Amino acid sequence: MGDLLKIKGGKPLQGQIKAGGAKNAMTKLLVASLLSDKKCTFYNVPNIGDVEITVNLCREIGSEINWDKKNHTLDIVTHELKTSYVPQRYSGSNRIPILMIGALMGRTDEDIIVPTLGGDMLGSRPVDLHIHALQKLGAKIEYRDMKKEGAYLAHAHHGLKGAVLSLNYPSVGATENTILAAVRAKGTTLIKNAAIEPEIIDLILFLQKLGANIMVDVDRTICIQHADQFHEVEHTIMTDRNEVASYAMCALSTKGRVFIEGAEHLQMIAFLNKIREIGGGFKIKQNGIEFFYDGKLKGGVHIETDVHPGFMTDWQQPFAVLLTQANGTSVIHETVYENRFGYASTLKEMGADIELFTQCLGGKSCRFASGDHHHSLVVKGPSTLHGKEITIPDLRAGFAYVMAALLAPEISTISNVEYLDRGYEDLVGKLIALGADITRVSQPKKHIDKTKNAIQNLLTIDKTLASV
Ligand code: UD1
Repeated sequence: MGDLLKIKGGKPLQGQIKAGGAKNAMTKLLVASLLSDKKCTFYNVPNIGDVEITVNLCREIGSEINWDKKNHTLDIVTHELKTSYVPQRYSGSNRIPILMIGALMGRTDEDIIVPTLGGDMLGSRPVDLHIHALQKLGAKIEYRDMKKEGAYLAHAHHGLKGAVLSLNYPSVGATENTILAAVRAKGTTLIKNAAIEPEIIDLILFLQKLGANIMVDVDRTICIQHADQFHEVEHTIMTDRNEVASYAMCALSTKGRVFIEGAEHLQMIAFLNKIREIGGGFKIKQNGIEFFYDGKLKGGVHIETDVHPGFMTDWQQPFAVLLTQANGTSVIHETVYENRFGYASTLKEMGADIELFTQCLGGKSCRFASGDHHHSLVVKGPSTLHGKEITIPDLRAGFAYVMAALLAPEISTISNVEYLDRGYEDLVGKLIALGADITRVSQPKKHIDKTKNAIQNLLTIDKTLASV
């Protein structure tokens, strides 16, 4: 059993915090650094579990890494690959191991072995778009049962060759994997219908410094030219837009006022539009954004999650909590993941008025229209939320629960805190700085010895949304 959070809510959050570097950028840039043998220095590196996991994985592959956690800097250099085998224990850890195929294929003739649990390429945790795109570049990829577990074996013995390909859906991971492979593929690669999330742009900025030539067109086409001359890189990680949105919503729902240093306006446009629509206050300042309660929050909004530049799917869980405090009935239509409302039942038990629907509600019909997935949510507010014992199922739902607990006047006890550690640096410290009544209760030493390292344990958990 891991640590617990105890939260007594009901206080407005007030003050200032600094947002850290983006989890979804830093983890990918570590993998991208494996493309060359040059030293890469990163600034604004978040001290979070997912970076820890990726650092361990890169060390396993042969990287030398010097991570100064106090100063949030990290150097990585991979003179040569020690192995191209990603051990089984990383299989359920996050979406990073699959990116090793794209990053390593141009660097080694050996088979790249990336494990996966479940073993179905097209199953509930699909990587079909990754595989098809890499195959277009000439990769040979097959699925094998290895040591009773599934693994992908990939190689490009005859080298990778640039190609024109189109993704059926602008998947973030598949776009990243294809870009990584394309950098060392001969010729030019065009990825049509590519994802253009800000974290992908950060990856492209990094790769350009490393020596790649990459263009992003306005029609979701990314053009990558072959590169073989690489350089040392210094790169500052973009701010985590999920962390910014998370604390912003805490400020508004608790009727408080929080300045988030480092918040970048450009990454938050879709989010800020919705905050304005519900009557939330914000002010863009020179080095961050201030969020403040500006009178009663208005419900009656329709939110549709989408790929960038749309409203991000990772924002919808805490936004549902925010809407429990707004006057009126609102709809959230999740179009990116078919099953991302698992947290709704716990919020209902806390007093939220929420119903789930399988239909596409409120807007366009999405690719989940004909399935029986509960992918639309109707929330009526305002509601009074009550404290509860809660177990966190995944990172983003976890933050939604913390936010709900911050609204409930009773004490809530939250377990599986390690999920939050994977994406939020110093969550408790930051919330205390904002005046929250929150404590982290460490479990007795013998439990810690037994579990050794909670993050290592999580490496074996295979849940579709555990890490996204
Ligand atoms: C990344 C982010 C996650 C974010 C998501 C969408 C990281 C570590 N995680 O996840 O926080 O919510 O982008 O912005 O960066 N799909 C397929 N086949 C594939 C790949 C994906 O069908 O081969 C589907 C997925 O099941 C999902 C959708 O495409 O329904 C989006 O997935 P994708 O964009 O790939 O998300 P991730 O890269 O996993």
